[in-house]
Amino acid sequence: MTRLRSALLALSFFAVTPIVAPAQAEAAEVNLYTTREAGLLKPLTDRFTAETGIQVNTVFVQGGLAERLAAEGSRSRADVAIVVDVGNLMELVDRDLSQPIRSEVLEGAIPANLRDPQGRWFALSTRARAIYASRERISEADAKALTYEALAEPRFKGRVCIRSGQHPYNTALFSTLLIAHGEPWLRDYLTKLKGNLARRAAGGDREVARDIMAGICDVGVANTYYAGLMLSGRGGEEQKLWGEAVRVVLPGRETAVNITGAIVTRHAPNRAEALRLLEFMVSPEAQTVYANGNFENPVRPGTPTNPIVESFGDLTPRDVSMPEVAARRAAVSRIVDEVGFDR
Ligand SMILES: [Fe+2]
Repeated sequence: MTRLRSALLALSFFAVTPIVAPAQAEAAEVNLYTTREAGLLKPLTDRFTAETGIQVNTVFVQGGLAERLAAEGSRSRADVAIVVDVGNLMELVDRDLSQPIRSEVLEGAIPANLRDPQGRWFALSTRARAIYASRERISEADAKALTYEALAEPRFKGRVCIRSGQHPYNTALFSTLLIAHGEPWLRDYLTKLKGNLARRAAGGDREVARDIMAGICDVGVANTYYAGLMLSGRGGEEQKLWGEAVRVVLPGRETAVNITGAIVTRHAPNRAEALRLLEFMVSPEAQTVYANGNFENPVRPGTPTNPIVESFGDLTPRDVSMPEVAARRAAVSRIVDEVGFDR
């Protein structure tokens, strides 16, 4: 009996193996290239796999994602790319590294101004470029009246902190202002803003809050989610104090926003799975996890935002086309250089 049993087991093993092996080799999968953090994406890709059975192979790329995709060409295994900043996203489109996607799910979930009419890119979240103002030295009324334009006024001489004018976050902000006011205005604005700096335009957004707390500056420019990260305590006790030292202002009720977004790659070997992953990313559950995980704003209307983000007030984005913001980045970079903003 035992011998028969083991013989049967052996038989079933050999009988089953050839059927199972190819099935496993063909197991549904999708390959994701991203510049985002593992801690943010892992809970989402895990949930996606649990729901769909599609395995997600994530490649975390520090920089040069577009170069890598371009170099890999038609041999690339990438199906989806998720990146931050409108410039980085449009670079993928401009270099013909994405492919057009039609999806009622995506078109229904993402407002029209946050996706390409041809389906070559889709925003997954928005992040505001806010003004940070000292709670100690700027009154609430004065803070709430602040605009990006006002930071260049003489009253802020020696009181402004900001990171490099060449950083993509500032490039997008200055592009938004360029669209609103034109090139001569932007050159004049950046010259005056440079004249108002309390220190060199350098460091990161969090250092704006740090330096406001230290009394080096009274106002600055930084993304909303950094305030969220600091105030949440996730960056440690010290950063929590930096966050508490500033009021987050969404300027003039027409705030400059940037996006994070996704494409399906031009040569995606797993196109159907790529589409399912993108559709999953705009589901109410995924939007909540994705946007709130980094204190950003979801693109899907009606998705609850994190209470810390909510406390910054209503976000009313400037009515500006994202591709147009990206299209100005070379011009902005040149002007930033010409006025010696970072020197
Ligand atoms: Fe950032």
